Amino acid sequence: MAGAWRGSLRARLMVGVVLLAAVGMVAVNAVSLIGLRLNLVDVADATLTKTRQTVQHRAHHRRRPVDEDNLNSLLPDGTYIALVNNRGRVVAQTPARDLDGRPRSRPDLPAPIPDGFAEHIVTLSARDTPVPRYRILSFPLGHSATVRPSPGAAPQAFSRVVVAKSLQPADDVVYWLIGSDSAATLAVLGGIVLLSRGVLGVGLRPLRDMAATATAIADGDLDQRIEVARRHSEVGEVGTALNRAFDERQRSEEQLRQFVANASHELRTPLTTIRGWAQLHLHGLAQDPALIERAMLRIEGEAARMHSMVEELLLLARLDQGRPLAHAPVDLAALADEAVTDARVVAPDRPLTLDVPDEVHTCGDEDRLRQVLQNLLSNALRHTPPHTPVSVTARALPNGTTELAVTDQGPGIPPETAARIFERFYRGDESRTPTSGGTGLGLSIVRSIAEAHNGTATVHTSPGKGSTFRVTLPGAG
Ligand SMILES: Nc1ncnc2c1ncn2[C@@H]1O[C@H](COP(=O)(O)OP(=O)(O)OP(=O)(O)O)[C@@H](O)[C@H]1O
Ligand SMILES: [Mg+2]
Repeated sequence: MAGAWRGSLRARLMVGVVLLAAVGMVAVNAVSLIGLRLNLVDVADATLTKTRQTVQHRAHHRRRPVDEDNLNSLLPDGTYIALVNNRGRVVAQTPARDLDGRPRSRPDLPAPIPDGFAEHIVTLSARDTPVPRYRILSFPLGHSATVRPSPGAAPQAFSRVVVAKSLQPADDVVYWLIGSDSAATLAVLGGIVLLSRGVLGVGLRPLRDMAATATAIADGDLDQRIEVARRHSEVGEVGTALNRAFDERQRSEEQLRQFVANASHELRTPLTTIRGWAQLHLHGLAQDPALIERAMLRIEGEAARMHSMVEELLLLARLDQGRPLAHAPVDLAALADEAVTDARVVAPDRPLTLDVPDEVHTCGDEDRLRQVLQNLLSNALRHTPPHTPVSVTARALPNGTTELAVTDQGPGIPPETAARIFERFYRGDESRTPTSGGTGLGLSIVRSIAEAHNGTATVHTSPGKGSTFRVTLPGAG
C-alpha cells in the first residue's frame, strides 16, 4: 500500500508541487535577504561618510582639543573612532559598543596603520574573532590636531582618523529574518502538503473512477461507460476517448458474433442436406440407382456451395487482416470485356452491352478485380428479371482515378435494402429462398476488395429505375 502510494501520480504531483513551492520560496527569501543585507551595508557606509564630514568639521572649527570624552559626542551611536598619529599609531580611540551599549571587540586595525589604508570603505573583522565585522573608513585630517587621551594626560598629535561601523546590527537583522523566514516557509510548505493532498485527491478522482469502470468492463460488464462531467478538460478527453474505444470494441465483438452466427447458419443448411441424403443411402432406403444418382449430385452440389462459401469467408478474413494484394498494372478494359463475354455464354438471352471508351489501366490485383466484375455481373443477372438490359463500363475519371460500373434496368432496390446490401450475409427478401443459392457475401467482397485497393464501392438505385454499382479504383500511376 505504502509502495503504491509512493509510486502514485498523486504522490509524484504532490512532491513536485511541494518542491516547486520550496524552491520558489527559498529563492524569494534569499533574494530579499541579500537585498536587505546590501541595503544595511549601504546605510552603514552612509553613516561613515557622514561621520567623516562631522569629524573634519569639528577638527577645523573647535579650538578645544578633542579628548577621549568628547570623542564619543562626535559620533552616532555604535560608531567606533580611532585617532592616528603620523607614524600610524593609534593615540586615542573609543570603546566599541553595540547600539544597546554592550561592549564589543574593536576592529582588527593593522599596526602601524599604513598611509592610504581604507581610503575607500573596506570590511574588516574584529580583533581575535571573525565577528562582528566592521565597515572601515580612514581619512587624513589635512593638518595636525591634538587629543588628550585621558583627563590630565599630555595632548598627543594626530593627523589621521579611522571610523568604523559594526555590521553586527545588520547581521542580527538578517539572522533573525533567516530564522523567522525558515519557520514561515516550513509552516507554509506543511500547509501546501495538506492542501495539495486534498486538491489532488479531488482532481484525480475521475482517473480512479475510469480505472474502476475499465476494470468492470474487462470483467465482463460491457455496458458500463465512464461518466464524463467536463468533455473539454484533459481528463474529460481521456474519458471520451476510452468510451469510444469501449463502444468500438463492443460493436466489433457484436459484429464478429453476428458473423459467426450467420456463417454457421449458412453452413448448416447444406450440411443438413448432405447428411440427409447420406443417411437415406446408409439406411438402405435409396435403392433406386436414379435416386442414388440424385443423392450424389445433391451432395456434390451442396459440398461445392460450402466450398465456395468457405473460400469467400477466407478471402474476407484475409482482406480484413490487411494482407497485401498483388500490385501490378491491370487492364480494366480487357477485364470488363472478358467478364461480359463470359456472361454472354451464361445468359445468351440477355441484352448485355460493354462500354469502354478508351484504354483504362489501374494498379492492383487482377484476380480480385476480375472477381469484383463477376460478382456485380452475376448479381445483375440473378437479381433482375430475364431480358433486363445490363451494361458494363470501364473509364478513367478526370481526377486520375478509374471506375468500373455495372448498370441494370431492373426493378431497382428499395432504400432500406440498399442501405444494407454491402453488409456480410445480407440478402434482399426475394433472394432468401434456399434455391436462390446466394449467401449474401458477394457485395461485401466487392467492397472489401475495392477498399483494399484504396477505392470505394457504392450503389445508386431507386425502385423502378434500375441500379448502378460503381467501383472506383486508383489510376495506373
Ligand atoms: N443488381 C441488383 N438488383 C437488385 N438487387 C440486387 C442487385 N445486386 C444485389 N442485389 C441485392 O443485394 C443483396 C446482396 O447481394 P450480394 O451479392 O451481397 O449477395 P447475393 O447475391 O444474395 O449472394 P452471393 O453471396 O452469392 O453474391 C442481394 O441478395 C439482392 O437482394
Ligand atoms: Mg451476389
